[in-house]
Amino acid sequence: MNDSKARTVEQAVEFLRSKSSRVPDAAVILGSGVNVLENLPGEIQLSYNDVFGISPSVAGHSGSLSLGEVDGKLVAVLRGRFHLYEGHFWDVVTLPTRVLVEWGVPKLFVTNAAGGLNQAFQVGDLMLITSYRDHLQPKWREVGLLPALTKEASVCENELTAKLSQASDKLLATTGGAFRAIKKGLYAGLLGPTYETLAEIDMLKLLKADAVGMSTVPELMTADGTKTQACALSVITNVWTPDVELEGHEEVLRAAKEASQRLDQLLRTAITA
Ligand code: HPA
Repeated sequence: MNDSKARTVEQAVEFLRSKSSRVPDAAVILGSGVNVLENLPGEIQLSYNDVFGISPSVAGHSGSLSLGEVDGKLVAVLRGRFHLYEGHFWDVVTLPTRVLVEWGVPKLFVTNAAGGLNQAFQVGDLMLITSYRDHLQPKWREVGLLPALTKEASVCENELTAKLSQASDKLLATTGGAFRAIKKGLYAGLLGPTYETLAEIDMLKLLKADAVGMSTVPELMTADGTKTQACALSVITNVWTPDVELEGHEEVLRAAKEASQRLDQLLRTAITA
């Protein structure tokens, strides 16, 4: 894809600094149909076009960066992302994360919509990513900017993932069972854009993947080794059973919306912990 209009990291950071004198305490990147942290106190909204020079093209991704407060913490909420399957190169897919790192944001929560492979999962479950497999076709990476170090353990096991586990326990104890405990598991990142064939699903299960999606691995790899600590959560929008019939993107958007309330509670609790 011709991404010649994309801003550089420096240009994007300069623009953000001109809009906010404070560096956010945390940032959240939202996946398809995931709507959380809406209408925050003191919120200002910026368009991806103004910040990054380009906008996402996939339904369910609005392409706005809002800055607002959660209990006094300044949070940047990025609604939408650039995917390899849209034809973007690695440097564009990782641009928002590189901008957050350069801006000095210390905590990054990455979310996505994913298909559940673990048969114990239910639609609407939230899965904390404890490890990932990168099936995003590394050839794409050679064209763009190379990622920083990729030490998987450090991105998937850190203070933030511990905070999310504790937040889940706390919500479970304080909401009288209304909150569903988060699941944990291995995320397989595939290029897409088509959903998987049943044969591919069988393969991914053999590889012990618990969920499958088309994003997030680039963000985690990019944040790794930087001062920005990152973690990721999948919203399980469908579960792959042997007789499953997946309606497609609409079904994914619907399920993501339903789970958003629990995700909202979880993120607020973890951000302010
Ligand atoms: N596969 C890949 N990506 C997805 C899925 C899926 O089943 N559900 C939501 N995003």
